[in-house]
Order: sequence, then structure tokens, then C-alpha cells
Amino acid sequence: MIRPKIFIAGSKGMVGSALIRLLKDQEVEILIKDRTELDLMNQDSVQNFFKNEKIDQIYLAAAKVGGIYANSTYPADFIYQNLMIQNNVIHSAFLSGVKKLLFLGSSCIYPKNANQPMKEEELLSDKLEPTNEPYAVAKIAGIKMCESYNRQYGVSDEIDYRSVMPTNLYGPGDNYHPENSHVIPGLIYRFHEAKINNLPSVTIWGTGTPKREFLHVEDMARASIFIMDLDKKDYDKHTSSMCSHINVGSGKDLSIKELSETIREVVGYEGVVHFDPNKPYYQLILHQNQKKVCLNP
Ligand SMILES: NC(=O)c1ccc[n+]([C@@H]2O[C@H](COP(=O)([O-])OP(=O)(O)OC[C@H]3O[C@@H](n4cnc5c(N)ncnc54)[C@H](OP(=O)(O)O)[C@@H]3O)[C@@H](O)[C@H]2O)c1
Repeated sequence: MIRPKIFIAGSKGMVGSALIRLLKDQEVEILIKDRTELDLMNQDSVQNFFKNEKIDQIYLAAAKVGGIYANSTYPADFIYQNLMIQNNVIHSAFLSGVKKLLFLGSSCIYPKNANQPMKEEELLSDKLEPTNEPYAVAKIAGIKMCESYNRQYGVSDEIDYRSVMPTNLYGPGDNYHPENSHVIPGLIYRFHEAKINNLPSVTIWGTGTPKREFLHVEDMARASIFIMDLDKKDYDKHTSSMCSHINVGSGKDLSIKELSETIREVVGYEGVVHFDPNKPYYQLILHQNQKKVCLNP
């Protein structure tokens, strides 16, 4: 039996490594290259790599990813690197005859004031959230790349490139960097730091009332494989030629206050938690050294 060869771009990342954990039990050949072996921003390297490997499927989980602080500090990196990676991978996939690809976007592609719950049709219906606009614009371009190759080459070359938009993810392999992390690892890190340093209080910027949706990364990986393997007729039934992406989430919202209470309990931090409504977004202040950390809202 011939096993399909699957390339996982971003194999060391949180989603990429979850995909490997699930796919290694299937009858497939997994192909991985980390950034030191293949820089996905380098067009020549990517084209040569794809030319030399007979790849059947690609999970495009490589990206420049970060929370709101990283997005507002490095907007050029976010737009440039993401556009380069996805343009190189998607176009080289097409040139080398790869028929199936799954592009991972993000729920931040939707307008700031999108109707809730956000439906796929809300895409491009209004202005984006300014803080992560460059990242969102790159992700929207990724969806439109996939869509355009399907529209132009779907029939003639059997191109079937799909897109999934994950909500906020958490789980093994998460990034606990004090400045560049997302909200769950950021809160875990800060409550843990406050606990081991016996700090009397932790302040979270914002009111704590905004709600966010979270999904475990294993569930995201399972959903990605499910959507990649879905019969084309079924995928087409739920999408259209110019609205071809699928949202992936848990379907349940949680306020930042509820989330921080759960994390505080699990970490076992017994100090006081303050919310500072005068601050623009979630930032935690450790009261001992006043170190500020921005978190993705
Ligand atoms: N995490 C979330 O909450 C979340 C939410 C919504 C959507 N997503 C999307 O899901 C996808 C995967 O996210 P993730 O959380 O798994 O991100 P991650 O943990 O940061 O992993 C990204 C991976 O991409 C690799 N990469 C970045 N630039 C590269 C380059 N130039 N060449 C080769 N590899 C490169 C990174 O390599 P290094 O290890 O060398 O840095 C890393 O392995 C992304 O498209 C992201 O936008 C994530």
C-alpha cells in the first residue's frame, strides 16, 4: 500500500507538533523540515524542496505568531514573514503538483465589530482590529491564495486547497514568553511567577469582562485532519468558491475574569487579583517589580 506523503510546515510549533502526534499513528509518511533546514521565506529553497519531494498533502502551520504586544511592536515582521511563508508554500505546492493543502489562518481575520458568533461570511465586511491588522491581512491573503488557485486550477489540475480559522489555542508546546505569549500561557506564567515569588497581588489590565473562545491544540489538530480528509463534495457543501474557509472553535465563550480565576485556582496563587479598567488591554503587572506584560485579548 502506498502511504501518502504529508509535509507539515511548522512542525516544531504548537499546532505542527500536535499534528505529528496524531498523524504518526496513521498509514502516512510524515515529512518535516525545521527552519534551520528549510527557511520557508526563501523562495528558491522552497521551490527546490518541493520539486525534489513528491508530496501529496501539506499542512501549512508555519507562521509568525504572537500576542497583541508582539503584533503591535513588530507589525512589519508579521505582515512580511507571513505573506512570504504562505506565498512560497502555496505557489510552490501548485508548481510541484501538490493537490491538497490546508492553510491555517486565525479568527483575527474578522472585522473588529463583527456580529457574534462570527460567521465565515463576516470576512471583509468591515474594518479590522488595528493592533493586529498586518497579521490579519496576511492571513486573509492566505485564504484568498488558496481560493484563487482552486478557482483557476481546481478543475484543470484538481487543486483542492482549504483553509481553517482556529480560535485561541492552548496546550502542549505553548509559548510562555513573558511578552509574546497568548492569554492562557501568559496568565499561567504570571500567576506562577507571583506564587513562587510570594507577591501580594497581580493586576490584569482591562475590565476582565470581554469574552474569548479557547480550544485545546489537540482538538485543533484533529479538526485540521478531519477537514483535510473531508470528501470534496462535503467541503464544498459548507463553503463557496469565494468564501472557502471554515472556522474552528469550541463554540463556548469565557470571560477573561472567569479564565483568570480558573488559572489562579489551578496554579494555587492565593494573593489578590485586581482588574484595571483604565488600561486598554490585558496586561499583567507583577507588583514587586512593576514588570508589564501584554497579553492577547
Ligand atoms: N496559537 C494560537 O493560539 C493560534 C490561534 C489561531 C491561529 N493560529 C495559527 O495556527 C498556526 C500554527 O500556530 P502555532 O501556535 O503552532 O504557532 P507556533 O507555535 O509559533 O509555530 C509556528 C511554527 O512556524 C515555524 N516558522 C516560522 N517562520 C518560519 C520560517 N521562516 N521557516 C520555517 N518555519 C518557520 C516556527 O519555527 P521556529 O520553531 O523555528 O520558530 C514554528 O515551528 C499559525 O498559522 C497560526 O497563525 C494559532
